[in-house]
Parts: sequence; structure tokens; C-alpha cells
Amino acid sequence: MHWEVAPLEGITTFIYRKAHHDIFGGASCYYTPFFSPTQERKLSTKEARDLSPEHNAGIVVIPQVLSKDPTQVLWAQQQVAERGFTELNINVGCPSGTVAAKGKGSGMLADITALDDFLEGVFANNLLPISVKTRVGVEHHDEFPAILNVFNQYPIHRLTIHPRVQKDFYKYPVRPEAFAYGIANTSLPLTYNGDLFTVADVERFCLQYPNVETIMFGRGVVGNPALLRQLNGGAPATREELQRFTATLYAGYQAAYGHKGAAAQRMKELWYSMIHLFADNQKLDKKMRRLSTPQEYEQTERLIFETLVLK
Ligand SMILES: Cc1cc2nc3c(=O)[nH]c(=O)nc-3n(C[C@H](O)[C@H](O)[C@H](O)COP(=O)(O)O)c2cc1C
Repeated sequence: MHWEVAPLEGITTFIYRKAHHDIFGGASCYYTPFFSPTQERKLSTKEARDLSPEHNAGIVVIPQVLSKDPTQVLWAQQQVAERGFTELNINVGCPSGTVAAKGKGSGMLADITALDDFLEGVFANNLLPISVKTRVGVEHHDEFPAILNVFNQYPIHRLTIHPRVQKDFYKYPVRPEAFAYGIANTSLPLTYNGDLFTVADVERFCLQYPNVETIMFGRGVVGNPALLRQLNGGAPATREELQRFTATLYAGYQAAYGHKGAAAQRMKELWYSMIHLFADNQKLDKKMRRLSTPQEYEQTERLIFETLVLK
């Protein structure tokens, strides 16, 4: 089986990817959060930093682009190929209202003809294997057969299906029937993504879909960074590893942002998920959510490690 780490804007930065790979491992690859080409054809400082070869050395990383314009996708391929990456992933799933309103991300699923024209443009002139990460519709998954029919026309290297529609965001349940439809109706290599948080969830999934060999994990890995290692038969996260992980991330974010405030904010967001690794976390969870200064963050994290017991 192949376990992949999903693109998560604001979370799976190069700093996170490297720390996760070095300390926990278990992933066959990591996707970058999406980058968005502009008219000026220039990567932002943040994007350039995330894609720089030195920040991605020794790790299998697949950059992701958000665009509805085949010429921008070609430019994106040039950018990533120059930096040594060997695949580009296209985001056809971002549910954000502002992104979708511009016809990007999951907004691309609203107009099948435009999606077809886009992919025709991309594959008419491509440099690298192109994979796609998609949702299964905008309003309802009964849109998915027509969408999949379009994908089936193109040599997509890998199709990752997150079986939610745009209107589901991340909160409504996944739609397993749409993924089952995908398995039965495409010969493209498929990856499943969505709502698998524990080893038991994955075991259940694998019994149900024995032919699926690749699963992408987002929030499951954020909440339990050792999840993929455990799926490979390895040990759960230890306190020492979690301490090393958070210390590495905090130091990395301070170096990237130049100050502690933003770094502490990032760490606070990670802890919303990771604190559930510890028993009786309610008091410190509340404290973590309310804190505002780096000093409070450092003190709260110390209390987590000193006083809580790993489940
Ligand atoms: C905070 C956040 C940021 C995300 N950023 C991206 C992104 O940049 N590109 C993308 O394709 N999906 C993005 N996603 C979606 C995830 O990759 C994934 O599809 C989703 O979380 C469902 O998988 P999970 O249940 O394993 O978390 C994001 C999700 C979250 C919660």
C-alpha cells in the first residue's frame, strides 16, 4: 500500500513535510499546498520557498497548482521541472467560495465543457506526468459520472478522489457511493482521500475496497503524525518524538517568519488536532485555543508535555 500526505494549505509546508519525514516517516509522498500562477508569471516568496530544491531534498514531493488556464499550467510545469520535481498535481477540489466563483478548484466541476477544454489544452502540450485531485461535484454526486467521463478521455497519471461535493466543504459526510462509482468506471490509477483518521478506519476501508492501493491522508496525519508509520506496522508517536516534532516546527516557523508571534499561531492551530493524542486534554485544549502570546504558547505546550498522558 502507498500512504500519501495530502496538500493542506497553511499546514503541510516544506517545514512540516521535512520534520514529518525525518521524525515519523511512513509516507510514500507529500503534496505541496497549491500554488497559484499569476499574470506576471512569478512565484510569490512563499511559493518559491516551498518549492525550492534545497527545502525538498531527500523527500518525494509532488507540487500542486491551482489554475483553470492551460498556459499557466504549462508555466507551472516548467517551474517545477526546473526545480527537479517529476510530476504536477492539479487542484480540482478546493471548495472555497472565492476560488470556486473564479471557476478554479471545485469551481471547475460546474462546467464540464470548460473542464474538457482545459484538460485538452493541458495534455496538448505537457512536460510532466499530470495528476488530478478532484471532488465529485458541486451540488450533488450525481454530477460525478459526467465529470469522470471527461477525466477518462485524458492520460491522467493518477486521479485522487475526495468524495465530497463543493457544497459539503469538509463538514458533511463523505459520499462513498461516488468513490465506488469511480472504481467501477475508470481505468485511471485511483487514490482515495477523505475522513480516514485511525488504523481501524483504514483497515475497514481496505476490506471494503481491496483493489485500492493508494490512500491520501490529510487531517488524520495532522492529528496523529505517526499514523502512516503505524499503518506500516510501526509504533505510535512517543512523547519524545512529539516534543522533537513541535520544537522543529516552531523553530522552522520562527526562521521562516522572522518572529515568534506568527510561529506560535501556526503551532496553536496544529495543536487543535494533536492535543487529542493526549488523555484528559480539555483544560489545556481550551487554554491553547485562547492564548495569544508566544510565551503563553510555550508555557501551555510545556504543560501538555509535562502533565498529560499519551492515550
Ligand atoms: C486546512 C486545509 C487546507 C487544505 N488545503 C488544500 C490544498 O492546498 N490543496 C488541496 O487539494 N486540498 C486541500 N485541502 C483538502 C485536503 O487535501 C483533503 O482533501 C481533505 O482534508 C480531506 O482529507 P482528510 O479527511 O484526510 O483530511 C485542505 C484541507 C484543509 C482542512
